[in-house]
Amino acid sequence: MPPEPGDNSSLGLALLGSGNVGAGVVAALNEGAARYALQVGRPLALRQVLVRDATRARPGLGDAHLTISIDEVLADRDVQIVIELMGGEHPAREYIERALASGRHVVTANKEVMAKHGAALLAVAAQHGVRLLYEASVGGGIPVISPLSRDLLANELTAVTAIINGTTNYMLTGMARDGTDYAVALAEAQRLGYAEPDPTADVEGIDATYKLAILCGLAFHAAVAPDDVARQGISRLAARDFRYAEALGYTIKLLAIGRLVDGGVVASVQPTLIARDEPLAKVDGVLNAVQIEGDLVGRVLFIGRGAGPGPTSSAVLADVLDVARDIVAGRTPLAAPEQRVLPVHPPALHRSRYYLRVTVQDRPRVLARLAGVLGEHEISIASVIQFETDDDARTAELVITTHHAPGSAMEAALSEIRALDAVVEVGNVLAMGG
Ligand SMILES: NC(=O)c1ccc[n+]([C@@H]2O[C@H](COP(=O)([O-])OP(=O)(O)OC[C@H]3O[C@@H](n4cnc5c(N)ncnc54)[C@H](OP(=O)(O)O)[C@@H]3O)[C@@H](O)[C@H]2O)c1
Repeated sequence: MPPEPGDNSSLGLALLGSGNVGAGVVAALNEGAARYALQVGRPLALRQVLVRDATRARPGLGDAHLTISIDEVLADRDVQIVIELMGGEHPAREYIERALASGRHVVTANKEVMAKHGAALLAVAAQHGVRLLYEASVGGGIPVISPLSRDLLANELTAVTAIINGTTNYMLTGMARDGTDYAVALAEAQRLGYAEPDPTADVEGIDATYKLAILCGLAFHAAVAPDDVARQGISRLAARDFRYAEALGYTIKLLAIGRLVDGGVVASVQPTLIARDEPLAKVDGVLNAVQIEGDLVGRVLFIGRGAGPGPTSSAVLADVLDVARDIVAGRTPLAAPEQRVLPVHPPALHRSRYYLRVTVQDRPRVLARLAGVLGEHEISIASVIQFETDDDARTAELVITTHHAPGSAMEAALSEIRALDAVVEVGNVLAMGG
């Protein structure tokens, strides 16, 4: 219904989930009420709050109705904007769909739902003439969805390179700075509440694949599913990898990379050596950063706090204010742009430079044999450094860096290298940027 001129009644909001981020949104809505009313032209009123446990007191809810029933939330005809902050795939996906189908605009911070079901839900929104906004789903408070959807639209974007998981970035920064091993860095992050008791989604790169899938979809106007993203976690990294990387002039970051290559998309999340003078090498602690490359704009870098109630509320409420202004102005939402069909190249075709850490028997001609195997697979060596020898065990640790080679060639070479009797262990294999 178009608004009546001079209508000053409040715009009704519902919150699905009032945990960490939800509480931040409630606090910001209360503190910023006067300012938001001015920006929108009408006051915002929180009418419904859905949680799992409605017996627990929640501060700041005022007159809002606390419930465990989505039916009660959607039955309130004065709710015009639904804010989903429950997290997880189910029932969040179903609740978002029901809200859209009942004519409500939806704002969500849910990366898993948007990565797996974003295209289908955006189609439901278009069908019902409402908007589905998701700025907070990637990079917390960093504006990145909106720049990709609007400000950079004139470009052919060619690459997105991002640090989009604060937990792992905190751990990797500690490992680089303090020389600690993975287990120590994880225990410290858990003690400080930066890592969950079950850290799998973060340390295995799963959370980052959701976010990268969303970024690639927007950047390349193509459907990229989380399963299309080649993924390697950080749990195999050792303190010595950071020492050796530093000696080579690099640091190690969990990089999420999407690229347009040969008319297709290449997407990966993996620990990567990046030169210490690269801007992304200096993104430390819980900070996130997203670097985007376009044909017109060149390189742009967005950096900031990727999580926490404050930054995430900033992104959630920006979407709420945007849609609220549309409602007040009586603007009809545009459907999401069509996506083109682009192939997603399998990981075996990804080309990268590589860092190999190999423990070998300390005897003549071992290096020549390693070089021979790499050469047979057309992988050329950029440098070889012998970092440590163990005189008692008569072994040496070599770090070999290579020029660009396809993942399939490296896989084939590695299985032969592992089988060499002079090779004690392939300690780690990492991608190198540049
Ligand atoms: N935390 C961050 O810094 C951050 C940053 C960016 C994006 N996000 C995203 O924001 C969303 C919320 O994260 P969060 O950290 O605020 O989560 P959270 O603290 O675990 O809060 C989840 C809230 O949802 C409610 N809830 C969960 N399942 C429900 C169900 N089946 N029915 C009804 N209510 C349900 C919970 O109710 P109870 O309170 O009764 O348990 C709780 O209020 C997630 O999608 C997350 O990925 C979070």
